[in-house]
Amino acid sequence: MKRGRFITFEGGEGAGKSTQLQRLAARLKSAGQEVVATREPGGSPGAESIRDIVLRGDADRWSPVTETLLMYAARRDHIERVILPALERGAWVVCDRFADSTRAYQGAAGGVDMGLISALEIYVLDAVRPDLTLVFDLPAEIGLERAHARAGAEMRFESKGMAFHQRLRESFRAIAEAEPGRCAVIDAAKPIEAVESAVWAAVSDRLAVHD
Ligand code: TMP
Repeated sequence: MKRGRFITFEGGEGAGKSTQLQRLAARLKSAGQEVVATREPGGSPGAESIRDIVLRGDADRWSPVTETLLMYAARRDHIERVILPALERGAWVVCDRFADSTRAYQGAAGGVDMGLISALEIYVLDAVRPDLTLVFDLPAEIGLERAHARAGAEMRFESKGMAFHQRLRESFRAIAEAEPGRCAVIDAAKPIEAVESAVWAAVSDRLAVHD
């Protein structure tokens, strides 16, 4: 059977990724695909347990290097138990955040050496790389305002301050610029329906799926 496609959603806080991911999953299902909609950190029972410890508590509860290792422990479990089996049976996997979030949050904004992150990508991701990454771009002030409006217990990263979030935005844009074949930038400041159309245009153009 043909291997499925792997689409990741990336960007800063409050960019509307989760809503758009659900809409894309529904559209792909009605186009006849088996779709697995998932998220990181999390997506498998073990990785969800790691999510609970990594996203809660004070902003300085974990150092950026420790966060990197926790994110990669969660990611490996998610890949082994959910992502890879789904792709191998021909399903499409749409994932809210993946490896680019570690590059941006822990690397560019958190100061972790990119050499460590690249080594983890090589040894831990193995051959599981996204076919398409949608980078949701939004001014940091608007994103943080939206994220605070839905505030809950998982606020460790939201609480890190504006300079951190501005570095994040620049980092995601730099990733998209460096890998234009894999990444499409989505203007997340637009109304929900316009963002949905832009997402569908990117997916249907690049991955040749039609409804
Ligand atoms: P979200 O579900 O609201 O996107 O929250 C996940 C949080 O985890 C978000 O603040 C970004 C952060 N995160 C990292 O710092 N590194 C990572 O590798 C991933 C996947 C998420």
